[in-house]
Amino acid sequence: MHIKTATFVVSNQDVSKCPENNLAEYAFIGRSNVGKSSLINMLTNKKKLAKTSGRPGKTQLINHFLINEQWYLVDLPGYGYARVSKSSKKTFQKFITAYFRKRKQLVSAFVLVDIRHEPQQIDLNFMQWLGEHQIPFSIIFTKSDKLKPKAIERNVAHYQSTLNKSWEELPKHFITSSSSYEGKEQLLNYIDSINLSLKNTKPQFD
Ligand code: GTP
Ligand code: MG
Repeated sequence: MHIKTATFVVSNQDVSKCPENNLAEYAFIGRSNVGKSSLINMLTNKKKLAKTSGRPGKTQLINHFLINEQWYLVDLPGYGYARVSKSSKKTFQKFITAYFRKRKQLVSAFVLVDIRHEPQQIDLNFMQWLGEHQIPFSIIFTKSDKLKPKAIERNVAHYQSTLNKSWEELPKHFITSSSSYEGKEQLLNYIDSINLSLKNTKPQFD
């Protein structure tokens, strides 16, 4: 799939204020600093579309980006950022979980995990929660440019064996880098194939 247009639409903390039309959307979630916003910029070929930072906690709101005037990419705040106060952590949690529970237009979540790290409990718990709420998701391993191919293979296998302990079927996964553009085609083609299948089974979310 080729992205012709990518435009920022709206940011907010309130799922009821997200765009009202029935376009399909795909949300990026994961720990702070894992590379959610960078991946949106990489996929859309727009370096400054989503705000990124070397310091965790940059994205604070639900951000909708309209792609090819047909579907949305949604950038969300990261979880697990230690230096946020307890009260703002709670606010975050509330509006993020409300987004996932209530947003009918959400077709799939993508849980981003840093390919360099051991499986983290907070990510595994979040995937569990998505599963319990029957929210489809895939895993995106990020920052693949930081490891050699052998280490990537080893870490992905280790992640999968961890997931195997609690999941009957492993979620789909992608290996990506916003620096080297690895995974761009695979991810966009995957989204495209879902969009196509939705088109063929209209009405979508009524
Ligand atoms: P929050 O909004 O704070 O939750 O973070 P985020 O998940 O949106 O991360 P962001 O995209 O802002 O990136 C965090 C840092 O990681 C930045 O310094 C990026 O340049 C860096 N980064 C993101 N993706 C990659 C990647 O694929 N490779 C490398 N080497 N660095 C990356
Ligand atoms: Mg961000």
